[in-house]
Amino acid sequence: MPPPRVSAQQQESLLAAARKASQRAYARYSNFRVGAAVLTQQGEVFAGCNVENASYGLTICAERAAIFTAVQETSAAKLEIQALAVVNGDELPCSPCGACRQVIFEFGENAIVIFKGQKGYQQLPITDLLPESFRLS
Ligand code: THU
Repeated sequence: MPPPRVSAQQQESLLAAARKASQRAYARYSNFRVGAAVLTQQGEVFAGCNVENASYGLTICAERAAIFTAVQETSAAKLEIQALAVVNGDELPCSPCGACRQVIFEFGENAIVIFKGQKGYQQLPITDLLPESFRLS
């Protein structure tokens, strides 16, 4: 098995931040509470939760909520994602949806994604999760 690309300590602290964020989830329609945490190249951590809406399509996933906060709040001129962790309140296996994968790639071509797979938490490069991602130019 290849070594993890983010240290075990960093993984645990990102998962903790994501779990804390999941407690703020606004998930009254699905009851599926999600939290995400972004680690920037500068070592900053920004978190987000899913926010649902009565008009279901307006829902935002935790991953994008965390990334959009990071875009605004990072000290860097442009957000560069080192890693992103996602958790849910049910501790179910859950990787980021396709839309979120594209947004992760936008801000981190080398980003590592930490999520719960069938055999527990795992790390995968975003390029494994989203081959042939879309890029303008
Ligand atoms: N959701 C996320 O926030 N992230 C994911 O990776 C999967 C899905 C949210 C969207 C919606 O609020 C709820 O989970 C059920 O789909």
